[in-house]
Amino acid sequence: MTALNWALLSTARINGALIPPLKASERNVLYGVASRDQAKADAFAALNGIPKAYGTYEAMLADPDVHVVYVPLPNHLHAEWSIRALQAGKHVLCEKPLAITLGEVDAMITAAQATGRVLMEAFMYRHHAQTLKVQELVQSGALGELRLIKGAFSFNLKNDNDVRLVRAYGGGSLWDVGCYPVSYCRTLAGAPVAEVYGQKVAGRDGVDEIFTGELRFANGVVAQFDSGFALPGRWYMEIVGSEGTLSIPEPYKPGIHNRVTLTREGGSEIVEIPGGELYAGEVENMADAILTGAATRVSLADSRANVATLLGLYRSADVGAPVVL
Ligand SMILES: NC(=O)c1ccc[n+]([C@@H]2O[C@H](COP(=O)([O-])OP(=O)(O)OC[C@H]3O[C@@H](n4cnc5c(N)ncnc54)[C@H](OP(=O)(O)O)[C@@H]3O)[C@@H](O)[C@H]2O)c1
Repeated sequence: MTALNWALLSTARINGALIPPLKASERNVLYGVASRDQAKADAFAALNGIPKAYGTYEAMLADPDVHVVYVPLPNHLHAEWSIRALQAGKHVLCEKPLAITLGEVDAMITAAQATGRVLMEAFMYRHHAQTLKVQELVQSGALGELRLIKGAFSFNLKNDNDVRLVRAYGGGSLWDVGCYPVSYCRTLAGAPVAEVYGQKVAGRDGVDEIFTGELRFANGVVAQFDSGFALPGRWYMEIVGSEGTLSIPEPYKPGIHNRVTLTREGGSEIVEIPGGELYAGEVENMADAILTGAATRVSLADSRANVATLLGLYRSADVGAPVVL
């Protein structure tokens, strides 16, 4: 097999991000879209030039010509539909967070292992050249010894009917956007998270509309972050070592031209990082994993540890005390 047929499981808004890289790819084909409503699937397919439209998710999974399924459902449905897709013999790229309980994550990992299919969480920023360069700078000692990481991701969520405000659907700012700074800190820290402390401001349907968190890693690195649905648009990461600071103004959605600032004694330098289409990396990494057996850049162990950290933070906010992981 040299080309992989992809199907989008639902007509989610975020599909719009996957469509250009799938269409541009030589090894991937945008083949189908499924919806709970045939008319919706037909309209989405017509608008986006997708050959096949399915009126149920099951019909898409039953199509032997579909090789890879993209799961961009509300968070509480990630596990169920990823597992159903894996059991139907499909490879799966599932949106973040991989799932909202560790039981679900473990069932997903078991299904991937049992079927021998590739399953990866769609943390798109992990594949981008800027993230790889930041990792390289930190690992090469450009900041001295890594000590402290700070980050944020917030915006004002004005639509009261958004699924991200439904508690039972895995709503909340930590699940939705706080997962990014947590993932970023974990990617750089160089050790597992040992302890977490979280505080939340509950809003609509009791979901956290503001979350602040602290992480302590097993190697002594500490991190602070916040996320929000009731704050202005803010996103940044700051990486602080014994000898320098790296400021990243667009950590989660880098693009073609990227600039990070490295400040050390004696001054600051702008590091220019040429990049590419943000969502192409995860699409091509899936193709590498499926067609050549390469490792996925976001491993299932990594995704499991991210979900465990997020759950620890929620538990800490509920009990009002630090939680040891
Ligand atoms: N990586 C990124 O950059 C990024 C950005 C945004 C969102 N996301 C993630 O992508 C996922 C989807 O986010 P989104 O904002 O694109 O979602 P959305 O627009 O709300 O779409 C979700 C889709 O799920 C389907 N669905 C099935 N059961 C549903 C239910 N009970 N309630 C509502 N919808 C249901 C619907 O499709 P049908 O009606 O067609 O069946 C709906 O269009 C989330 O996990 C989110 O965290 C990732």
